[in-house]
Amino acid sequence: MSLLWHITCLLLLNSCTPGFSMQHGIVGGKVSAPHSRPYMVYIRDKLRKATCGGFLVREDYVMTAAHCKLSHLMVYLGVNDTNFLPDGIEVDPIPHPKFSMKTGDHDIMLLKLKTPATLNKIVGTINLPKTVNEKISKNCMVMGWGWKKNYHESPSNVLKEANVNLIDSENCGMADTLCTEGSSGPAQGDSGGPLICGGAAQGIVSFYNNKANADHLLVYTHISHYLPWINRTMMSSEIPKMLNQVSTPVTLHPAPGQWTSKPDNHQVLSVGGNVSGSHSRPYMVYIRDKLRKATCGGFLVREDYVMTAAHCKLSHLMVYLGVNDTNFLPDGIEVDPIPHPKFSKTTGDHDIMLLKLKTPATLNKTVSIITFPKTENEEISKDCTVMGWGWQDYHHESPSSVLKEESVTLIDSANCGTADALCTEGSTGPARGDSGGPLVCGGVAQGIVSSYQKQKNGDHLAVYTHISHYLPWIHHTMNSSTQQ
Ligand SMILES: *[C@@H]1O[C@H](CO)[C@@H](O)[C@H](O)[C@H]1NC(C)=O
Ligand SMILES: *[C@@H]1O[C@H](CO)[C@@H](O)[C@H](O)[C@H]1NC(C)=O
Ligand SMILES: *[C@@H]1O[C@H](CO)[C@@H](O)[C@H](O)[C@H]1NC(C)=O
Ligand SMILES: *[C@@H]1O[C@H](CO)[C@@H](O)[C@H](O)[C@H]1NC(C)=O
Ligand SMILES: *[C@@H]1O[C@H](CO)[C@@H](O)[C@H](O)[C@H]1NC(C)=O
Ligand SMILES: *[C@@H]1O[C@H](CO)[C@@H](O)[C@H](O)[C@H]1NC(C)=O
Repeated sequence: MSLLWHITCLLLLNSCTPGFSMQHGIVGGKVSAPHSRPYMVYIRDKLRKATCGGFLVREDYVMTAAHCKLSHLMVYLGVNDTNFLPDGIEVDPIPHPKFSMKTGDHDIMLLKLKTPATLNKIVGTINLPKTVNEKISKNCMVMGWGWKKNYHESPSNVLKEANVNLIDSENCGMADTLCTEGSSGPAQGDSGGPLICGGAAQGIVSFYNNKANADHLLVYTHISHYLPWINRTMMSSEIPKMLNQVSTPVTLHPAPGQWTSKPDNHQVLSVGGNVSGSHSRPYMVYIRDKLRKATCGGFLVREDYVMTAAHCKLSHLMVYLGVNDTNFLPDGIEVDPIPHPKFSKTTGDHDIMLLKLKTPATLNKTVSIITFPKTENEEISKDCTVMGWGWQDYHHESPSSVLKEESVTLIDSANCGTADALCTEGSTGPARGDSGGPLVCGGVAQGIVSSYQKQKNGDHLAVYTHISHYLPWIHHTMNSSTQQ
């Protein structure tokens, strides 16, 4: 078998980059009706721009060929035209442990989606075989965005499909495979796509070989032979249920005429930036809702008070002090939330909240307080730092388990679009999950991460509650309960 594999690789030298001998675009066949194959997944390597096909087998798993494993795979669901891709999803690749690049044996891989798919009309799953020796209908179909001609780079921007007929497995040349032959079928770029027979994915496009009569022998991984491995792999992780940063339905509307799209509720921080040193920000507080698993940042302003954003008020808030890694949280502390009485979910105005700790903190090296402004019109240094455990990418769920921070520069408040706010802008900064965290300028918490807004030039405008404008309310609230 290694011979065939090598022949294929040589023939496809152009794209036979080391470790990636994608085969086969759909040669012949026809263009699929848009979104008629909702299980089809477009796979691309972020750096090397190599592409493969794949198919969704559960909300959180894509199946493809193991030889499609490159270092930075992204998957795209619900694709119609590859010139207009939706946001990609990052994956953890799990190739079959016995896959051999030399022989092409066991060419099967599962990709675990870091963000599970939302199934709908254009994104769906396809059935796998039910039993190891399931009988397979000979009339099958393959599909992909690969080359349309066998010898010329000619990927298709729309999905193509072709009917193929299974041949006797004995003529296939290797164990655990299925084969088809003919002048039309998969070509370069179609690797990893499904061979569909009778409504189930029975094979995975693996490689092809030229035959003397100019037809191609197409070889597919025989999926049913791998059911035990597939089951073991997929069972080891239950379908994740809303792990982090659920966006709550709070919508902040822009000030009239100022913004064009609505800021997101659980704004993010931490895009770009550096990992903070362990425990280097002892005032930072991790806030999580017990039931909904939404998270926010906050900061300790007195032994018994945490300050955060009012839009972080959910029903069962717990705060965690002295956190280094959110995978290893200390015991949480229950709180009484006191949002600003004028906070408006509709406008996002007055987005400030105090959380009264039911058990006051014991201050030490890893848990301490940060000062907030002393006077209402205190001058603020323009060089500030914002920090959080939020998403590390504006478009993909990617919370950080360790605290991240970023330097930001205040812009003129006049360009901020709303009273009682401070703003920064740039390509990096707070993102989803960072709401409620502090904007620290000159060692003082001057702002609270409230919302962000994408701008025309692609940068993000981050909006922070201007803490010094709320001093009377803060003092009144905190003085009304004696400090312990
Ligand atoms: C799919 O893409 C093709 C080619 O760009 C386009 O003509 C067609 O309108 C698209 N269909 C849908 C439903 O988006
Ligand atoms: C794999 O799991 C499916 C669903 O739980 C089950 O129907 C099937 O029998 C299992 N197959 C094997 C080979 O374990
Ligand atoms: C903080 O967490 C990181 C990541 O888990 C770990 O490498 C580091 O050792 C931790 N530091 C301390 C002081 O616990
Ligand atoms: C500081 O206090 C927290 C609880 O408030 C505790 O978990 C942590 O171990 C303490 N750290 C030190 C260095 O004493
Ligand atoms: C991040 O780290 C780099 C290298 O240590 C440093 O040059 C840069 O100033 C840091 N950025 C921030 C925001 O601290
Ligand atoms: C609240 O207490 C602070 C500090 O003790 C004090 O400076 C402030 O004047 C008090 N404010 C009110 C409204 O009582």
